[in-house]
Amino acid sequence: MHIGTTLTQFITEETRRHPQASGDFAALLNDLAVSCKFIGAQVYRGALVGALGSAGTDNVQGEVQKKLDIISNDAILHAMDWTGHLAGMASEEMDDPYSIPNSVPRGKYLLLFDPLDGSSNTDVGISVGTIFSILRAPVAGRDASMKDFLQPGVEQVCAGYALYGSSNMLVYSTGHGVNGFTLDPSIGEYILTHKQMTIPEDTSEYAINMSNHRHWQKPVQRYIDELNQGTEGPRGRNFNMRWVGSMVADVHRILCRGGIFLYPFDQKDPKKPGKLRLLYEANPMSYLVEQAGGAASTGTARILEIQPEGLHQRVPVILGAKNEVERVLSYHQH
Ligand code: AHG
Ligand code: MN
Ligand code: MN
Ligand code: MN
Repeated sequence: MHIGTTLTQFITEETRRHPQASGDFAALLNDLAVSCKFIGAQVYRGALVGALGSAGTDNVQGEVQKKLDIISNDAILHAMDWTGHLAGMASEEMDDPYSIPNSVPRGKYLLLFDPLDGSSNTDVGISVGTIFSILRAPVAGRDASMKDFLQPGVEQVCAGYALYGSSNMLVYSTGHGVNGFTLDPSIGEYILTHKQMTIPEDTSEYAINMSNHRHWQKPVQRYIDELNQGTEGPRGRNFNMRWVGSMVADVHRILCRGGIFLYPFDQKDPKKPGKLRLLYEANPMSYLVEQAGGAASTGTARILEIQPEGLHQRVPVILGAKNEVERVLSYHQH
């Protein structure tokens, strides 16, 4: 009987791929994992410790914040700001980037995160998660400027998420495939359980919020209508639909058993081309999906190549099974 491969062992062995590595990144990832263990514990004990419900404040997105949004955001800031690995942090829940305390040396990385993804699900017992993206600070050793965060997704050195679902899982990639770890609460360690997760190029399962159908552009309406016509339609087979309302849960399902996820452009609010945020939702998830052999597009552009213009910029997201994403793109060409 042995522990299995812990996250620490896996990170250490991965670090050996880079002989010149200082170990800073390995320490950063381990510190981030501690915050995901803590957030998971708060989520699972939410009803017992009064952490459910609304905080009564709004965030920069114009959303009413849940108590767990703020608890999770603060948990990451305080698990990371003393480490000396970071030149700054940015989050869905903060208008502007967070400056590292003056007493702490500035590091060479930037951390961007969605501390609690799927907030609408916190009070109804449905899976939620944390999404993170790590960039290099253009100039190590000094405070990051706003502009330093506005790097295209191809510049990410790491992306991942924690899923607080039927178990607490950590899934991440540093560019060598996607690996998943399950928290063993009896020893407090994340153990490697999902090696080299991959997304099949074809699928018969899609994820979209159908209530927005009338707001979509024609190519997406056509694509989804064809799926719903099943064997009577041009696709000649039946499709299944799943929509959790937590991007982390939907993307995790796609990494586990395939599928396509769409939060497309909709005409609901002309100021918002889509609901999902580029820097701390679309980019990290697109990085993972591409590392797992899938594709990620706005419908007309590869998400990872978008030059960000704002910290909280939104983009349409179509990601998952490569052949299905390419079909949606082809419908946008007509
Ligand atoms: P967040 O809770 O971090 O604001 O993100 C919620 C996002 C994403 O997780 C999910 O896929 C999507 O919102 C669900 O949107 P709808 O509620 O419009 O379906
Ligand atoms: Mn989110
Ligand atoms: Mn969130
Ligand atoms: Mn939110």
